[in-house]
Amino acid sequence: DGGPESSCCTGTVTVEQRDWDECVIAWDLQNAGKAGLHGFHIHETADFSQGCKSAGPHYNPFDREHGGPEDEERHVGDLGNVVVDEAGRSRGSLTDRLVKLYGKTSVVGRSVIVHAGEDDLGRGGDAESRLTGNAGARIACGEIVDSGAKRRRG
Ligand code: CU
Ligand code: ZN
Repeated sequence: DGGPESSCCTGTVTVEQRDWDECVIAWDLQNAGKAGLHGFHIHETADFSQGCKSAGPHYNPFDREHGGPEDEERHVGDLGNVVVDEAGRSRGSLTDRLVKLYGKTSVVGRSVIVHAGEDDLGRGGDAESRLTGNAGARIACGEIVDSGAKRRRG
């Protein structure tokens, strides 16, 4: 996102559709910023012409408000937070019911983004919380490609 952290992150995210409502998203990130929670989303496009910030808003094909992955009211792209350790590393996986690799709301060709700060999951009490979760700058982004695997980019 143009800040000092914008080129520091490396890693891989894989997205595997196991069933229509069961998509497994696994990540292994290095140099992912300060220890703690970092917002983790699918954004609308994979346009990185101006860094991660040109990738558009959270992927939201059903015109909902921002929330957490377990909420009814959420964007399809709302995956919550990943936990980064003291060494700047984060590894884990989650299963999501709305993310799809096929059909009208496929996320192929969109992007995965890691943020500098914590996603408040829509509970921050301000308008921005219901849009972005106040997760702050976009520190890493990568396109979701057709192989089902996604490589990081800056
Ligand atoms: Cu995001
Ligand atoms: Zn969102």
